[in-house]
Amino acid sequence: MATLALVSRPAGVLPKLSISASCVGSTQQRKLHHAVIPKGKGGRSSSSGIAATVFGATGFLGRYVVSRLGRIGSQIIIPHRCDQYDTMYFKPMGDLGQIIFMEWDARNKDSIKRALEHSNVVINLVGKEWETKNYRFEDIFVGIPQQIAKATREAGITKLIHVSHLNADIRSSSKYLRNKAVGETAVRDEFPDAIIMKPSEMFGREDRFFNYYANMRWFGKAIPLIGLGKKTVKQPVHVADVAKAIVSAIRDPDANGKTYALVGPNRYLLHDLVEYIYAVAHRPFVAYPLPRPIFHLAARIFALNPFEPWTTPDKVERFHLTDMKYPGLPGLEDLGITPSTVEQRAIEILRRHRRFRFLEADLDATKPAKTVNY
Ligand SMILES: NC(=O)c1ccc[n+]([C@@H]2O[C@H](COP(=O)([O-])OP(=O)(O)OC[C@H]3O[C@@H](n4cnc5c(N)ncnc54)[C@H](OP(=O)(O)O)[C@@H]3O)[C@@H](O)[C@H]2O)c1
Repeated sequence: MATLALVSRPAGVLPKLSISASCVGSTQQRKLHHAVIPKGKGGRSSSSGIAATVFGATGFLGRYVVSRLGRIGSQIIIPHRCDQYDTMYFKPMGDLGQIIFMEWDARNKDSIKRALEHSNVVINLVGKEWETKNYRFEDIFVGIPQQIAKATREAGITKLIHVSHLNADIRSSSKYLRNKAVGETAVRDEFPDAIIMKPSEMFGREDRFFNYYANMRWFGKAIPLIGLGKKTVKQPVHVADVAKAIVSAIRDPDANGKTYALVGPNRYLLHDLVEYIYAVAHRPFVAYPLPRPIFHLAARIFALNPFEPWTTPDKVERFHLTDMKYPGLPGLEDLGITPSTVEQRAIEILRRHRRFRFLEADLDATKPAKTVNY
């Protein structure tokens, strides 16, 4: 029988997964390892039968996906490029020894292969909101997903989940979204059975959507919105619902090859959504219409930040695009998930933006945001 052993290591050295030869090998020789035969009651100390490599786990969505996988008793391989101390928060998300870390380099094909050679599920969450000197959107959203899809196919793995974006469109005014569209096609070409998830803008405690608008108060008393935010319709989705959808799709044998549009239950004008954000935060909301070229110019200055730009012209563009509707695509409900509303979850994100005297203020006192049907 195949054996799995975590090689003991001196402090500070990454763990190395050692699996006997019968478990490795080519597509045809892939065998089910005893550690991934489903057993137990379904909790974190049972075995879900899932051994998943999660690329991009260290991001916003990643921690929710790993947590969901860990709590049903999965083995999770986390390829990362950060310091090992920055991945420590993952450890309690799974049972002892079930979360395995390894360094990877997205440009190194062998390191991609190594990261997924012992898995039966691959999840790609790699993304970046801005381009860097080393990685352009073409690399992040097309090149890397393509290499992951290719390596997944060559390893004989049958489940690949690729996270794209609801508004991915080759004609989009956002370069991020144009490359997301090309990436979807590249993944499908390499791996026709891939499951493509298209979430809208995600909100959650660590998001860069609600927190972004709430933090805009730092830059003045009024909030700049193109066209006052009255020409943009948004349908945000809660990050935990997207994570649940990913886990449900792994477990659903019929999900292979499908594309899911993951959106929240309500559509809002961007203006009304930002107004609601400020109402929950108990802060005054004054919007002013900023012409697109001036907003882009201001964002270009922020984009010069070599570390983490607060905004970029592309982000300004992306946030002012109306969320697409895909009546023909399956969504959260088809995966057995009831999407959370903004009103149910906003407080967990926005309480920290309140002044001290409003910290405990009742959420019921805040009028729900107006919704639209178009
Ligand atoms: N956030 C949203 O509202 C939203 C909405 C729709 C779709 N999406 C898509 O959903 C996916 C996950 O989103 P997210 O918000 O969780 O993204 P995120 O917070 O930006 O995290 C992205 C992950 O990708 C990794 N990564 C980025 N560039 C890399 C590179 N060159 N080499 C290796 N790893 C790299 C990051 O690693 P480091 O930590 O080392 O940088 C991080 O783990 C992305 O594809 C995103 O485009 C997001």
